[in-house]
Amino acid sequence: MDRDTVSRFKTIADVDAQIDSVLNDSPILITSKLSNFELPFFNASPALRRLLVLKELYRLHDTVDRTYTELARLNRSRTATPSDLEDFKKAFQEIVKITTNRYPAFRLVLDQARHFLDLGCAPGGFATWLLQNTLMHGVGITLPPSASIPGISVQGSLQSLAPRFSVYEEDVCSIARGQSTSINWDTTEHIPPAGFDLVIANAAIMLAEGAVPRTKKIDLVYAQLLVALEHIAAGGTLVLSLWMRPFDWVIDIIAILRDSFDSVYAVKPRYQAKTSFAYIVCQSYKANADVKHLHLDHIRAIICYFNRTAIGDVDTIALPHPSEAVAGQAILTYVVELFTPVWERQYDAIRSNYDRVLQGHGSGACPRVHPNQRSESTLARIGNKNPQMPAARSTADHSSDWRSRSAQRDVTQRQEEKNIGYKKLFNTPKGASDRQWR
Ligand SMILES: C[S@@+](CC[C@H](N)C(=O)[O-])C[C@H]1O[C@@H](n2cnc3c(N)ncnc32)[C@H](O)[C@@H]1O
Repeated sequence: MDRDTVSRFKTIADVDAQIDSVLNDSPILITSKLSNFELPFFNASPALRRLLVLKELYRLHDTVDRTYTELARLNRSRTATPSDLEDFKKAFQEIVKITTNRYPAFRLVLDQARHFLDLGCAPGGFATWLLQNTLMHGVGITLPPSASIPGISVQGSLQSLAPRFSVYEEDVCSIARGQSTSINWDTTEHIPPAGFDLVIANAAIMLAEGAVPRTKKIDLVYAQLLVALEHIAAGGTLVLSLWMRPFDWVIDIIAILRDSFDSVYAVKPRYQAKTSFAYIVCQSYKANADVKHLHLDHIRAIICYFNRTAIGDVDTIALPHPSEAVAGQAILTYVVELFTPVWERQYDAIRSNYDRVLQGHGSGACPRVHPNQRSESTLARIGNKNPQMPAARSTADHSSDWRSRSAQRDVTQRQEEKNIGYKKLFNTPKGASDRQWR
């Protein structure tokens, strides 16, 4: 897969054919980029397999690449516009709608809730929706404009939500480390002693690619989770934005959520359909004091590790103290079931957009091709008719336990296999698409 090949695509049918070709003949082009932790998920999910190839082919298209580079530049630090607020408001409305379709009682839960906490609340779309559509009071936390991390600064729109909404300009990571300067959790207005009925943790997604190290984002997701679990009420709801790639830390977080809530559900609003994260809607917080302490200690240990250890800009970070829950078939099946609908939604959105790009930015209709649609034949040709069973082999250890992750030998061997795959498919030199992707 290289830019030359991609530049020859004329229609979306060429893209579809190339996805089939890669999965049939050279899955190593993709598997060589995955950690040993991710491979079992790739093997278990036709939806993930097709999505990963499509994303690679999409990223390699010049127009797409240019657009994203420009977007990342613009996103690095900017002031929110009214349309950002409207977009987030619509996104939250859709999260509520999709979740209510699946769990009809969800809307009632929101109607009966009294207090929400919104981590990373600017520009204020979610808070605005909640204040306009429920009787809740809220507390919002977001970065001050002077923060070194790029973000959206607090707008007049947020201040105007008073008196039902109080905003504090703070770094969630400082709060997680016990260094909050303005919030006193015992006395601050709108902070209920029994915890919040709803916690939203949505700070990490806007950190532009390249603007901060990925580990900073992972640190922020754990910090949000810590603050959320410290302050959620029994029976409460958490809406957490989370990356959809089965990285070790993502699975670690899902294992904690599965343990802590009655139901865990992944949602992807239309306006964010192309992005690589989903909202994880977790209902009915159920962890008893012992389980809660166990989770909080685990998360704190990881946050301390981020404080003490210089980790490179990587996705898979070999977290210390992994929980037992992240290994084995049960969590693999759970995660594949949880993420399949959102992987499919992202696939459809990227494919539609790819179609428009290939048509010169026209708005051409794009017939939906379900990610599973061609996977049966794909699987059959690579010797596996059961879409749930492993479809591609790596030389690496297939364990989903991060304690047995690959040795350098495995990585080198996979790299060599990948080079053979490149030559076979495109007869081009290696390295054309080696840039780290997510
Ligand atoms: C995706 S936006 C949130 C959108 C918001 N949920 C809404 O409905 O409008 C993410 C926000 O989190 C803030 N943020 C990023 N890192 C943060 C941190 N470490 N602590 C607090 N806020 C943070 C950003 O400044 C940005 O305003």
